[in-house]
Amino acid sequence: MKVLVVGSGGREHAIVEAISRSPKASKIYAAPGNAGIAALAECVAIKDTEVEKLLEFAKANEVDLTVVGPEASLAVGIVDRFREEGLKIFGPTKAAAQLEASKDFAKRLMVKYDVPTAGYETFTDFEEALAYVKKGSLPTVLKYDGLAAGKGVVIATTMEEAEATLRDMLLDTKFGEGRVVIEEFLTGEEFSLMCFVAGNKICAMPVAQDHKRAYDNDEGPNTGGMGAYTELPFVTEQDHAYAMEKIMQRVADAMVEEGTPFTGVLYGGLMKTPNGIKVIEFNARFGDPETEVVLPRLKSDAIDLFMAVASNEQPEAEWSEGATLGIVLASKGYPGDYAKGFAIRGTESVADSKIYHMGTAMKDGELVTAGGRVMIVVASAPTLREAQQKAEADVRRIECDNLFHRTDIGAKAFR
Ligand code: AMP
Ligand code: GLY
Repeated sequence: MKVLVVGSGGREHAIVEAISRSPKASKIYAAPGNAGIAALAECVAIKDTEVEKLLEFAKANEVDLTVVGPEASLAVGIVDRFREEGLKIFGPTKAAAQLEASKDFAKRLMVKYDVPTAGYETFTDFEEALAYVKKGSLPTVLKYDGLAAGKGVVIATTMEEAEATLRDMLLDTKFGEGRVVIEEFLTGEEFSLMCFVAGNKICAMPVAQDHKRAYDNDEGPNTGGMGAYTELPFVTEQDHAYAMEKIMQRVADAMVEEGTPFTGVLYGGLMKTPNGIKVIEFNARFGDPETEVVLPRLKSDAIDLFMAVASNEQPEAEWSEGATLGIVLASKGYPGDYAKGFAIRGTESVADSKIYHMGTAMKDGELVTAGGRVMIVVASAPTLREAQQKAEADVRRIECDNLFHRTDIGAKAFR
């Protein structure tokens, strides 16, 4: 089978690698891919949102299955177009991807189908929104309604901050057309439960935990994710069963009921609050960096699995025992401004961990930094503690003048 993977990050590197383990893979393409992916797949210079070009490429090269990584591709309707042309593709339609693209859509669906989530109101008017916030308590959670590359959520701890944020989101056109979801502030451990979903048929992946803040102890600005691990000791079997039944299955069923059946990966960003597990957000795709610690544990044939979902059949997956832990190496300054082009050495001395590239390039035959998040080092071991030690030891083998990483990935599992 010829497979095309759309995207260029660590997530797509992990997807490509999982596919490369399948004996059914005769050829893998990645568009646009990256310097790490290039070792496993032929990288094609087409951007992830150039749907017509991707379609043309898939047809011309007789691609049997396309797997979509980024939400940007979904938001421009890549799945709808491929299906119209009779091509097999793994991912949700534009209508189903609204679960991620519109916080308001997701919230309304959850309320309608009794899926546990934080209380909320949606506003388009600045004065009304401000009055609502003034009536409520702090901190308050303000979410811009639309894709904002993970930057659309502000947890305001003072009234001044809340007001300034609402001004940004509703009066200035910084983000585009203004609509804001104002949410009850919840507390508890966050975790990610990703499921393969084909209509109402679902299959869970191991739960993982992301680390969104830039620095140790969850300090500093929000990022695209500085590390992840699996398994999570604080998510019990009961928690898992509850989340599958009351959240993931219910949403899959609801999407069928609404006439917008979901196919692909439904990502539940969940929180274990004192009042039970609640939804923080949904994504309509594989999480990043969760995928980089989850897919290494996939024992089943990835092509069979993706094909089942793309064909609306029951997805089934087996996972290896043990723990995986990934540490992201990011450019100094990220998520703010950072310089690129620094040489990366020592990756060849990393034998025990997997390295997935996130933002690298080859320059004059040398691997260099080319993005904010540069690579993730993922170790597997029987216990999380061992995986952590192994990943940290391997991170230290990588030499570069302009990288930093968190040293406390997985720490919450040991508290
Ligand atoms: P989101 O983009 O919806 O995932 O939000 C980004 C982050 O903001 C989440 O990972 C949470 O840490 C935090 N967050 C979002 N909604 C809430 C909430 N209702 N209560 C507390 N924290 C939240
Ligand atoms: N890890 C969070 C996300 O993929 O959005």
